[in-house]
Amino acid sequence: MEIVRTAARMKEWSRAARSAGQRIGFVPTMGALHAGHLSLLVRAAEECDRAVLSVFVNPLQFGPREDFAGYPRDLERDAGLAEAGGAAVLFAPEETQVHLPDHRTWVTVEGMQEVLCGRSRTGHFRGVTTVVAKLLAIVDPAAAYFGEKDAQQLRILKRMARDLHLECDIVGCPIVRDEDGLALSSRNAYLTPEERRAAPVLRRALQEGAALAGQGERAIAPIVLRVRATLAREPLARIDYVEAVDDETLVPVERTDRRVLLAAAAWFGRARLIDNVVVG
Ligand code: PAJ
Repeated sequence: MEIVRTAARMKEWSRAARSAGQRIGFVPTMGALHAGHLSLLVRAAEECDRAVLSVFVNPLQFGPREDFAGYPRDLERDAGLAEAGGAAVLFAPEETQVHLPDHRTWVTVEGMQEVLCGRSRTGHFRGVTTVVAKLLAIVDPAAAYFGEKDAQQLRILKRMARDLHLECDIVGCPIVRDEDGLALSSRNAYLTPEERRAAPVLRRALQEGAALAGQGERAIAPIVLRVRATLAREPLARIDYVEAVDDETLVPVERTDRRVLLAAAAWFGRARLIDNVVVG
C-alpha cells in the first residue's frame, strides 16, 4: 500500500491506474477507522480493481463549537487497518493540499441540508459537499462508497453527483453495528461506560417506530411520538431531533405512503450520536 500525501501524486497515481484500464473505488473518511469504515473499503476492493481510502479531518465541516481539534487522529493505526482492508493507496493529505489557503469555492446542495442534522449543524453539509467534490476531482474514481449511517450525507452526495454530472457512482452501504445494536462511530469513543450502556436506546427507539409502520400505521406523527417517548425514558439521552423525511428528497413528510427516512440524533454526555431506519 502506498501512502500518498499530495494531491499531485494522487492524481498521477489515479491517471496511471485509469490508463491501465483499472476501475478505482474510493472510500473517503476522517480516520479513526473502525469496522464500519472497513466494510466500505472491503466492498470497494471487491467491486473495483484498486481501492483508495482517504483520511482527512475536514475543518470545513466542523462548527465553531464542535470537536475538530479533539477529533481522534492516529495515522499509523489507520494505515495498518487500511492495508489489511485491501487499500492500494492511503491518501492522507495536509489541509492545504485540499483547501488552498485562499480558496473561495463552495458546493452547496440547496433544500436538503437544512433538515435533520442541518438544523443544529449550520454549514456542516456544505463543508462535506465541498470537500467530497474536491476529493472526487483529485482521485477521480469510478465509484465512491458511503455509509447509510450518515443517511443525509449519502443522499446529499448522490444529488450533488447527479446535479454536477459527475461520472462517479455514489454507492450506499449498510450500517455496521455493535452486538447491542449501537451503530459504530468514531464518536462512540467519547462515551463513558454508563453512556455506552445507554446508547443502544437510539437504535431501539427507531426500531419501535419502524415496527409501528410495519403494523400498518401510515401517519408519521404517532411513529415519531413513539421514538421520542422511548428516548425520553432514558435519562442519559438528550434528544436533538426525531424526524421523518422523504427518503430521496429529504422533504419532511406526514405519511408513510412512500419510502420514508426516519432519523434521530441524541446527545449522550458530550457525544452526539445519530441513527436511522427506512420505512414504508
Ligand atoms: P467519517 O465519519 O469518517 O465516515 C466515513 C464513511 O464511513 C462515511 O461514508 C460514513 O457513513 C461511513 N460510516 C461511518 N460509520 C459507519 C458504520 N457504522 N457503518 C457503515 N458505514 C459507516 O463521513 C465522513 O467521515 C465525512 O463526512 C466525509 C464523507 C469523509 C467527508 O469529510
